[in-house]
Amino acid sequence: MASTETAIGTEKGTLQELARRHLWMHFTRMSAYQDHDVPIIVRGDGCYVYDEHGKRYLDGLSALFCVNIGHGRLDIAQAGADQARDLGFFINWSYAHPPAIELAARVASLAPGDLNRVFFTSGGSESVESALKLARQYHGLTGSPNKYKVIAREIAYHGSSFGALTATGITSLREPFEPLMPGGCHVPNTNTYHLPEGFDVSELAEAIAQRIEFEGPDTVAAVILEPVQNAGGCFTPPDGYFERVREICDDYNVLLISDEVICAFGRLGEWFGAERYGYQPDMITTAKALTSAYAPMGAVIASDRVAEPFLTGTHSFTHGFTFGGHPMSSAIALANLDAFEREGVLENVRANEDALRSTLESLKELPIVGDVRGAGYFYALELVRDKATKASFTDEESETLLRGYLSGELYRRGLICRADDRGDPVIQLSPPLIAGPEQFEEIESILRPVLAEAGERMHVNG
Ligand SMILES: Cc1ncc(COP(=O)(O)O)c(C=O)c1O
Repeated sequence: MASTETAIGTEKGTLQELARRHLWMHFTRMSAYQDHDVPIIVRGDGCYVYDEHGKRYLDGLSALFCVNIGHGRLDIAQAGADQARDLGFFINWSYAHPPAIELAARVASLAPGDLNRVFFTSGGSESVESALKLARQYHGLTGSPNKYKVIAREIAYHGSSFGALTATGITSLREPFEPLMPGGCHVPNTNTYHLPEGFDVSELAEAIAQRIEFEGPDTVAAVILEPVQNAGGCFTPPDGYFERVREICDDYNVLLISDEVICAFGRLGEWFGAERYGYQPDMITTAKALTSAYAPMGAVIASDRVAEPFLTGTHSFTHGFTFGGHPMSSAIALANLDAFEREGVLENVRANEDALRSTLESLKELPIVGDVRGAGYFYALELVRDKATKASFTDEESETLLRGYLSGELYRRGLICRADDRGDPVIQLSPPLIAGPEQFEEIESILRPVLAEAGERMHVNG
């Protein structure tokens, strides 16, 4: 194959043609790009990105909840290059290097309570995979070798590798790959917008206890939950939910994993989502904004109790990835965390989250917007056919609404956000954490006419 440059210039045609011919895009219906251009993003600056034609877009999703510090931060990328001058790569298997050590100590100092031991990975699925294996081996070493099951919530996304997929509660993602790793069990999520009348929200946490009883407490290793569940559309926990989940986990000797691949590093205005809701997990899984995605990296942060059995005698966590704790990624993560602190990124979220909420809530004036929910800089608008009854759209209607109109039209008007129907149809917004009222107004000024038009097209009851 010729060099990419030669191929682009002469032999193989434009980037569009090369993308269609060679690039296997993730979770993407590639047939959609037979007739439409592949959106090719070439540059980023702050809250904005630019496509190959120079058109500007507000990145209302932080490139899938990743670029929390904003785009175009050469200083953060430079930290990786500076590190490469000393040591471009060395492994964390039996050896260590300064950036991974410093980052582990830094993350431990930020994490709540006794979450002091940091196991690095290359991304979110690897973090979840590692946490599930860690839970199993922990129980094996502490006298409960039959504890292997994991309880997660319906429609929650915890990653795509086989173990993580076992926890993922989205049928359409699981079905093509069955049978999965054994032991995945699911309970209702905290979708309080659609709770049946008379249903007491306290039953949502009790469902976990009931499921543990049903499965047999001696077989359950872990419960994995996001502080705010992404898939389905930013389901926040009801008051007291996590407090009760923590009690249940303690009662049954089950580890509580807080999956914060999205919620950590400022998304909810705190370093970790668990802090926002006041609970103490046994492990936190992270990725994405640890480096603000200037390099791929994830981490499992484990409590002293979970780490303890691995620190004596001949024991070790018999698991690892070559690139875990990569020195360049570690240096970039440290620079990213420095920038968070220096520039008051968490403070910016706290100062502006009410403004984001009220801007988005103003869209409830539109008949199609049934619910606005979320926290921090992490929001979903649920789209409904009938606000009075909360009736949703059929699968076919949802397809027409989201893929036939909304996704394309919002992008055409310069807003990148997520139109998602893994649960009921939602629009998700999750801007970079440096955003403020100017960006919120821009989001609203694009969403309002497009959602109004969508309501008319779908003959929504007004
Ligand atoms: C909560 C959660 N867990 C795990 C993952 C998997 O992360 P990755 O795509 O980096 O493998 C994601 C991805 O979005 C996620 O949102």
